[in-house]
Amino acid sequence: MNDKITKIDIITSETKLDDLIDGLDKIGITGMTVSNVQGCGMQKGHKEYYRGTELDVKLLPKVKIEIVICSIPVDTVLATIKSILHTGKIGDGKIFVYDVSNVIRVSDFAEGKAAL
Ligand SMILES: Nc1ncnc2c1ncn2[C@@H]1O[C@H](COP(=O)(O)OP(=O)(O)O)[C@@H](O)[C@H]1O
Ligand SMILES: [Mg+2]
Repeated sequence: MNDKITKIDIITSETKLDDLIDGLDKIGITGMTVSNVQGCGMQKGHKEYYRGTELDVKLLPKVKIEIVICSIPVDTVLATIKSILHTGKIGDGKIFVYDVSNVIRVSDFAEGKAAL
């Protein structure tokens, strides 16, 4: 199936955003959605001190980058993302990959691959 559409969500540190956008641009990714989000993973946030009291900061600020692709191979996109984000430390982020059943561009009713 050549017209398989895939969505990739990347949740990572805000400090990686510019490099990630540059890298995605270089492999021909045209559309994306970027949001500021809060999240936690296995570390459940971290501990912070405020006026001598330990506060449990459960949610850390992160950025979420959402891309939907068809022509560019998923493996290529994932390899690019991993090479940009990987330092080997916690905080490098997480990548979620989904199948997408359809895309519709409302202005001209283009659907599927043609709408990307
Ligand atoms: N199971 C999950 N469901 C939804 N979002 C998650 C999940 N696990 C992690 N995330 C999101 O991904 C971010 C990074 O995941 P995390 O496991 O903490 O990896 P790392 O600490 O290496 O960046 C989290 O801050 C959270 O926003
Ligand atoms: Mg974490």
